Amino acid sequence: MEMIELGKTGVMIPEVGLGTWKYSGGEAPLRRGIELGAFLIDTAEMYRNEDRVGQAIKGLRDQVFLATKVLGSNLRHDQVLRAAETSLRLLNVDCIDLYQIHWPNSSVPIKETMGTMAKLVDAGSVKHVGVSNFSKRQLQEAQGAMPNVPIVSNQVLYHLKRREIERELLPYCQEHSVTVMAYTPLADGSLATKPRMRRDEGLQALEQVATETGKTMAQVALNWCTSHPNVIVIPKSNSVDRTVENCGASGWRLSPEQIAALEKAFLS
Ligand SMILES: NC(=O)c1ccc[n+]([C@@H]2O[C@H](COP(=O)([O-])OP(=O)(O)OC[C@H]3O[C@@H](n4cnc5c(N)ncnc54)[C@H](OP(=O)(O)O)[C@@H]3O)[C@@H](O)[C@H]2O)c1
Repeated sequence: MEMIELGKTGVMIPEVGLGTWKYSGGEAPLRRGIELGAFLIDTAEMYRNEDRVGQAIKGLRDQVFLATKVLGSNLRHDQVLRAAETSLRLLNVDCIDLYQIHWPNSSVPIKETMGTMAKLVDAGSVKHVGVSNFSKRQLQEAQGAMPNVPIVSNQVLYHLKRREIERELLPYCQEHSVTVMAYTPLADGSLATKPRMRRDEGLQALEQVATETGKTMAQVALNWCTSHPNVIVIPKSNSVDRTVENCGASGWRLSPEQIAALEKAFLS
């Protein structure tokens, strides 16, 4: 498993992590993923599964990088503190490795939220602070409101069919060492599905590159994301086999020609 640095922290994280939105796979897929080096697990208070994630990593806490999120509707000072406390209890850990703001909320002063995040870092219950679904401007404002603690990551939608972040956000994150965590990197599984119609040029190209490289379509789709500097992926799977498959998206690289062919086909 290839690793990249989280922000400028010196902490190394795997380029393939484990998403858990609508996760119902029990302990085995997560534990197998950790064994294969995908030791970053992404959850959220919204997912209502922090207790099950905590159960799955029992005995493995030291081997796991645990990321969770506070709801965008819980961003007042007391709400953040309460949410963090609840996440710690459900996950059954002393410390959250990465605490992310799930989405921005313009009705709460950003200084109040970021000040509370910094307080959690000072208290030792959170190691690193991240955001999710933040635009470049929102990221700048959030960082400006928390000058002494770096925002190390932004979790955003990114896959071959949704490349909006490439316009502004991704270059900004790359320049400022903010790790981009690509969510829904398989487009909810649709990038792993064989093309049914001839005119589906994107999926056809994906299948073609998969054949050329001896990888699966899912592995090619994930590797396309991580071929961009500073980007990691967090696919979710309930299945041990597909978790193993997704971990196999790391450790090799698409060629520039293959990347160009994929991008051309998905644009058309
Ligand atoms: N911050 C946010 O606002 C936000 C929003 C959405 C998602 N996320 C995070 O990102 C993670 C991933 O996104 P996602 O769950 O929306 O979508 P995804 O990872 O793109 O796709 C998940 C779907 O793909 C299937 N799948 C997984 N691996 C596969 C493979 N190798 N071959 C074929 N199908 C495969 C899964 O089915 P099986 O489970 O049956 O394998 C599931 O139906 C989430 O779990 C969550 O942690 C964050």
